[in-house]
Amino acid sequence: MSMALRSRVIGCGSYLPRRVLTNGALAAEIDTSDEWIIERTGIRQRHIADDGELTSDLATAAARVALARAGVDAREIDLIIVATTTPDDTFPATATQVQAKLGLDRGAAFDVQAVCSGFIYGLTVADSMLRAGHGKTALVIGAETFSRLLDWEDRTTCVLFGDGAGAVVLRAEAAGDIRTDRGVLASKIHSDGRYRDMLYVDGGVSSTRTIGHVRMKGREVFRHAVENLASVVQEVLDLAGFAPSDVDWVVPHQANRRILEATAKKLHLPIERVVVTVDRHANTSAASVPLALDVAVSDGRIKPGDLLMLEAMGGGFTWGGALVRW
Ligand code: UT7
Repeated sequence: MSMALRSRVIGCGSYLPRRVLTNGALAAEIDTSDEWIIERTGIRQRHIADDGELTSDLATAAARVALARAGVDAREIDLIIVATTTPDDTFPATATQVQAKLGLDRGAAFDVQAVCSGFIYGLTVADSMLRAGHGKTALVIGAETFSRLLDWEDRTTCVLFGDGAGAVVLRAEAAGDIRTDRGVLASKIHSDGRYRDMLYVDGGVSSTRTIGHVRMKGREVFRHAVENLASVVQEVLDLAGFAPSDVDWVVPHQANRRILEATAKKLHLPIERVVVTVDRHANTSAASVPLALDVAVSDGRIKPGDLLMLEAMGGGFTWGGALVRW
């Protein structure tokens, strides 16, 4: 029998575009206010990519930081997965452009599309592939230029999103005891396509031959998010045999501070154990979980041996969670 493997997370990194757009600057252009945005979402600002700055540029910048922190030469990468809903082009996959920008010509690179849950999907796919022997070292990146999908006249959506990228390096190593082992201990992804009309883009290659703009029934999405996130977090904990009280840090998708608070409450976890970046980054879709992870690792909150619950919910609907020992 072949040896059981675990995907260790050996480095992370992130990148944010230079340009910052504050609530105040938005309120000068559209019918909204700093007070409304902060009170209803917790968002204070978001980063916006420059014209000509592509999703693959953001992704490559985050990947370079993650590789440097992991002490891994890019040539060791066997697999690149980019989770994105804002690819550079309709094809080729943005991941192949990251591969080229990193100077690589071997291994496999492809995108996954699960909107805001994309990073959890990408991590689950990469973990499954590594444990099945499809390579030893993987880059999983969440990267978005989500601002390109916004209708700047629709105040119910345009204030909510931002651009950015985050990345992790995974390496397959011999698995130890799940109670103490480091790496991806369990993960679970879900989808339910019946909810398409709650959160979608009103355009596409096959439907309209345009890019389209994001549309959302915010209140309904909010309600489903709290339910689905609490249930998938419990499911992932059960899979690995842990309890909510074992979790040191929740690293959630950053859509709305009130969702983070409601989910934490359902799990009887104090909000102090939740990494919150929505105030500075807004909702960066597939990038938000690895961005939040990198912030909390870089500022020293997340320490080696900590138990992390990563979770996200997005259009589709899609949702998922992953339990990682750092
Ligand atoms: O990333 C994928 C997952 N996405 C999410 O999880 C998003 C989930 N949803 C949410 O975060 C919240 O539902 C929103 C932040 C989108 C909206 O907050 P809400 O508390 O659900 O507000 P609402 O949609 O019920 O709107 C309340 C009021 C409305 O006015 P009326 O109809 O009560 O007069 C809106 O027109 O707030 C108004 N409104 C605004 N006012 C000022 C909506 N957007 C704005 C705005 N500025 N930007």
